Amino acid sequence: MKAVVWHAVGDIRLDDVPEPKIQDPYDAIVRITTSAICGTDLHFVRGTMPGMREGRILGHEAVGIVEEVGQGVRNFRAGDRVVVPSTVACGTCSYCRAGYYAQCDNANPGGPQAGTVFFGGPEAAGGLDGLQAEYARIPYAHVGLVPLPDTVDDAQAILLSDIYPTSWFGARLAEVGSGDTVAIVGAGPVGQAAVACARLQGAGRVIVVDGLADRLELARRQHAETVDFNAEDPVEAVRELTGGIGVDRVIDAVGVDAQRPSRGPAADTLGEQNEQFDHERDQVAPERNPDGDTWVPGDAPSLAARWSVQMVAKAGTVGTIGVYPPQVQHYPFGEAFMKNLTLRNGNCNHRRYLPRLVSLVASGALDPTPLITQWSGAQDAVEAYRMFDRREAGWTKVALGLSDRGAVAPGMGEAAGTGASTTAGTQE
Ligand SMILES: NC(=O)c1ccc[n+]([C@@H]2O[C@H](COP(=O)([O-])OP(=O)(O)OC[C@H]3O[C@@H](n4cnc5c(N)ncnc54)[C@H](O)[C@@H]3O)[C@@H](O)[C@H]2O)c1
Ligand SMILES: [Zn+2]
Ligand SMILES: [Zn+2]
Repeated sequence: MKAVVWHAVGDIRLDDVPEPKIQDPYDAIVRITTSAICGTDLHFVRGTMPGMREGRILGHEAVGIVEEVGQGVRNFRAGDRVVVPSTVACGTCSYCRAGYYAQCDNANPGGPQAGTVFFGGPEAAGGLDGLQAEYARIPYAHVGLVPLPDTVDDAQAILLSDIYPTSWFGARLAEVGSGDTVAIVGAGPVGQAAVACARLQGAGRVIVVDGLADRLELARRQHAETVDFNAEDPVEAVRELTGGIGVDRVIDAVGVDAQRPSRGPAADTLGEQNEQFDHERDQVAPERNPDGDTWVPGDAPSLAARWSVQMVAKAGTVGTIGVYPPQVQHYPFGEAFMKNLTLRNGNCNHRRYLPRLVSLVASGALDPTPLITQWSGAQDAVEAYRMFDRREAGWTKVALGLSDRGAVAPGMGEAAGTGASTTAGTQE
């Protein structure tokens, strides 16, 4: 079968690999109809998340059709249409039962302290092959897989595999409540999805910060207020928009690949921080293998965290979903302490939020489809990665069509995040 395979930092390929087989009674084999490329995949290719093994199939977002199930899987049969949550969890340990699927005690072969297991990640994340392939083995399929009604198509469901659950989780972490003013730092797919999720959880105003014109435009189509960090100082701008107070809640949807402003007042005031960020980048990504302007790691690993802490109001909350791997050692802790902030973060417990999101989509309350701005065939997957990595205009979220069964006409981002209850928000 065809699969996108990680070979080294800066080197991924579309390879022919053997099809997966059932290995455990709770496994299923799913024929993938649609997969997608995520900002998380970029960390592995840029070298900002270490520990990948050569030959690992990439990808942790997929929709497909169950091909075969192990003897222990009583709730799915061949032919069922499903969405696959990015993280893998056992469903029986106390963490899973409490909804902390990302902290499952049993899924990681490294033991209870070994961390979150997800598809297509580093060895420390369970060493599982990913979902950018024609077929995938899904462990604990009886717990993970979520069935799809016919009314939810692949273009909608693929965004429920990771992006919308993560954004929903981000708004929960940030304690978004009725009437809150919320800043979302980062307007990639996760930040875009967070606009609708914050509104569905009661946000009154949503302000989105990024440095890319096309992504800010996509946020404005969702009626978010936008701040361009290459045109104004984002912390000053957010304070000005909030009467000098700052926002009640911040969702950091950038993470370790944060970039410095390249121009404008925020760039002018970097000064000594430039050296600090150089040091951070060397620590985070000692091995870099960029190819021209592709696969270049972020050059300011802690900057989104710093801006988040600075733009939130005193006693406010910062919810961090942008990924920071263990080697990240810098966080503005003193500043956060002095403001009595609540800081919450982590890997999404996808399975916890996914069924609710499927219902929201099926009911018409949320339509995530328009967030997909590019639809690529498997044969063009590596080129699609490169375009997404360079954040080329219009390459905000890339779906990979792996089978005609799932094929849906590409949207161009019109009316992203729309739906009956998300355009203006729901406030109690
Ligand atoms: N916690 C989780 O479970 C989870 C799940 C999925 C994704 N993620 C993470 O969420 C993050 C976003 O994912 P994505 O797919 O949207 O990625 P992406 O790379 O497409 O988006 C990142 C965005 O941040 C912007 N950005 C860069 N530097 C910035 C800065 N200093 N200030 C503001 N914006 C800045 C970029 O221009 C880009 O638009 C990634 O770190 C990804 O790993 C986390
Ligand atoms: Zn993802
Ligand atoms: Zn568990």
